[in-house]
Amino acid sequence: MNADDARRLLRLWDRQQAAYVAHREARFEAMLAVLELHAGDAPTVLDLACGPGAIADRVLAALPKATAIAVDYDPILLAIARGALADRAEVHDLDLVAAGWERRLGTDRVDAVLSSTALHWLSPAQLLDVYTAAGRLLPPGGILLNADHLRFDDRSPTLRDVSARHDARTQQAGLAAGALRYDAWYDEALLVPDLAALAPERERRFADRPPQPPAPLDFHLAALRAAGFSEVGTVWQYLDDYVVFARR
Ligand SMILES: C[S@@+](CC[C@H](N)C(=O)[O-])C[C@H]1O[C@@H](n2cnc3c(N)ncnc32)[C@H](O)[C@@H]1O
Repeated sequence: MNADDARRLLRLWDRQQAAYVAHREARFEAMLAVLELHAGDAPTVLDLACGPGAIADRVLAALPKATAIAVDYDPILLAIARGALADRAEVHDLDLVAAGWERRLGTDRVDAVLSSTALHWLSPAQLLDVYTAAGRLLPPGGILLNADHLRFDDRSPTLRDVSARHDARTQQAGLAAGALRYDAWYDEALLVPDLAALAPERERRFADRPPQPPAPLDFHLAALRAAGFSEVGTVWQYLDDYVVFARR
């Protein structure tokens, strides 16, 4: 697809996602600050479940000497990422649930693995596998940053309620300001004939991927330790939205 359409859809995607993730840009800024301060200005970064390339695009804008590799399994989002990132990043069509995906990246080492609003699609067992696979790509000292809503569970009913009501308010404000809903964004993308042609394949790939029960923060931290990371913690939080940090 042409770069102009791809960049337009990436911008619309960013507005759409910002209606579901309050302070999404602040979250990215925290990730980029940790990335640069820890890994310098020319890291090789893997954007895991990249969608249309939101993280890779920001990494390359902030750190022009960085190398970006992006992975996703949605053929429509992959086509947009390829168009929007053009020759600035390698984009790979890989299913993170399939064992050995990390061996099909074309490299066996990256300095950082970054992900946002994506790994909640994985079951707890799959999440542990993905953290373990990501760890294999990282040398000692390499870092993983995962930004996502990590929902409060029964132990924190008040925070769960406040977070849910804050989400509703964020969505209301975003939609009122003109952001597309998630489904409406896909409808907009499908107006591009090249992308419409990919819709049946997208349907087929995600037909058997039901939403997963939410994994709380302590599960992520324990899974990262079990996956061999030596230092784990959080570098950003807003209600139930976190950036989880791990260093090999
Ligand atoms: C809400 S999007 C987030 C995209 C981007 N990181 C962002 O923050 O804008 C979630 C992404 O996870 C991807 N995803 C879900 N399951 C996946 C899997 N098994 N393998 C690869 N990508 C997957 C989806 O295709 C989608 O692009």
